This record gives sequence, structure tokens and C-alpha cells, in this order.
Amino acid sequence: MQLIDGKQIAAEIKKEIFDEVQRIKAEGGKIPHLAAILVGHDGGSESYVAHKIKDCQEVGFTSTLVRFEDDVTEEILLDQVLALNNDPDIDGFIVQLPLPKHIPEQKVIEAIDPAKDVDGFHPVNVGRMVLGIPSFVSATPFGIVQLLKRCGIATSGKNCVVIGRSNIVGRPLSILMSHKNINATVTVAHSRTKDLEQLCANADILVAAMGVPGFVKAGMVKEGAVVIDVGTTRVPAPETKSGFRLKGDVNFDEVAPLCSWITPVPGGVGPMTRVSLLMNTLTAAKNKTA
Ligand code: GUN
Repeated sequence: MQLIDGKQIAAEIKKEIFDEVQRIKAEGGKIPHLAAILVGHDGGSESYVAHKIKDCQEVGFTSTLVRFEDDVTEEILLDQVLALNNDPDIDGFIVQLPLPKHIPEQKVIEAIDPAKDVDGFHPVNVGRMVLGIPSFVSATPFGIVQLLKRCGIATSGKNCVVIGRSNIVGRPLSILMSHKNINATVTVAHSRTKDLEQLCANADILVAAMGVPGFVKAGMVKEGAVVIDVGTTRVPAPETKSGFRLKGDVNFDEVAPLCSWITPVPGGVGPMTRVSLLMNTLTAAKNKTA
């Protein structure tokens, strides 16, 4: 069994991005600039956005955080999106989700200029991704594809089962895995799937992305399979400083001995998700000067 060290691979990619920023600087070019809009004070969102800003600082990007309280109106938020669309200094930006219930998320997403939509959530980017033409791909699927590539994991003709059909992970990943550069045969499983255990046990590559901690057990995994665990559920852990720890969708201790490759949680997919946003921001900045 080999561990897919997302932390290490993400650090390598960050170093590559840092070097590229140094080169841009040396040539007198514009430093990539990412902005994030954060509404309210949700603990998870606060922490994700803080990581995104810190990641920008580490690779030498400029970053801007725009904050609103929970009671911000749809109109004010949409005005801010338009302001960022029109700000020539901003290369890419994200609106951290979820938004408060009174704000229609899809409307906000669709207000973002697709050329600055480094989250890859705008239907134009999703459509371009489906067609296999250059696009911003959402961070987790993009990160998983990078992991498979950088570990040299064979994908052509392999049976890939993706459990979970979310718009930001399962569904886009299933499409990427079927494209000609990856060539996997993909099945998307979900809450209504019949004989899930048997289906998973036939997978050469199994991706668990449904957010149920410890769901994937040894009986669901084929000997020699590649297992990618997207789960990051916070479970209480009084012994830690934060009071919680992250638990994946895979019962790691039970499943790992069966695998050829497996991602740990934490330190697998998570760091790659973070670095993907930096890769997309660099691409957005380069597209502007191209
Ligand atoms: N909420 C959970 N994941 C994400 C993400 O990747 N981007 C944004 N904008 N919000 C999120």
C-alpha cells in the first residue's frame, strides 16, 4: 500500500507557483490577485477563507478579503460581485458558500465573470469543462486529477466508481475521469444506488465523496484498488487544540491494507483542493495577459 501524500504534492505545486510568481515579478509583470467574499461568521467558512488568504501570501499572490454581515442584501452582494468583475487589478475571486438563506446562491454564482470564476462554479465554466475545452475546474476535482497524475496512477480503461453527485465534487470529477486524457470508465453512485457494496467492490478507482464519515468499509473495496477519500467531516476531539478533528468517508484502518494507493484524511485531497484555487488564479492572471 502506498500513501498518496497530498500534503507533499501540494507543497511541491506551491513551490512551482511561488517560482513562477518570482519570475513574473522579475519581468515586471502583474502579481496575481485573488479576492474572496465572505458573508457572516460561519466557523467552517471563516477557516476556509483564512486558509485561502494564507495560501496566497505563501506563494506571493496579492489577496483581498471582502466581508459582509449575515444580513447583507442580495443587491449589495451582487454590486460587490460586479465591482470585482470590473476591477482590472483582480484576476480571480470567489464567493465563499454557503450564503445566508435569503440570498439565492445560483444568482450570485451566475453574476461572476466566468473569466474570473476561479472556483469554476459558473455554468459557463461547468459547460466548458464538460466539453473538455479550457475552463476553470472546481478545486477538489481538479486536485484529485493532479494527485492521480503526479503519483503516476494508471487510469486508462479502469473502472472508476464515484460515490456522491454534488455539483462541486462528484459530478464534475466523474466527467473529468471519463475524458480522453484519463480514459476511465465511470459510474456515479448516490443515495438511491442499488447494490452499492458490490458496485464499489468492482472499482479499480473508488472515490468517496458523500460526506458520511467512515462509510467505506473493507467489504466494499477490491484488493489493489486506488481509494480517494474526499470526506472531511469535523468530529469532536476534546484532546485537540481546535476541539475537533477531520474524519474521512473511508474507514482508513480497515481499507488501507487492501489498497494499492490511498489518500489519508487529513493530508490527502484537502491540501490539493487548496492548491487548485492557486493554480486557477495563476491561470486567470496569465489569461489576462495572453
Ligand atoms: N464552500 C465549500 N467549498 C467551497 C469552495 O470550494 N468554494 C466556495 N466558494 N465555497 C465553498
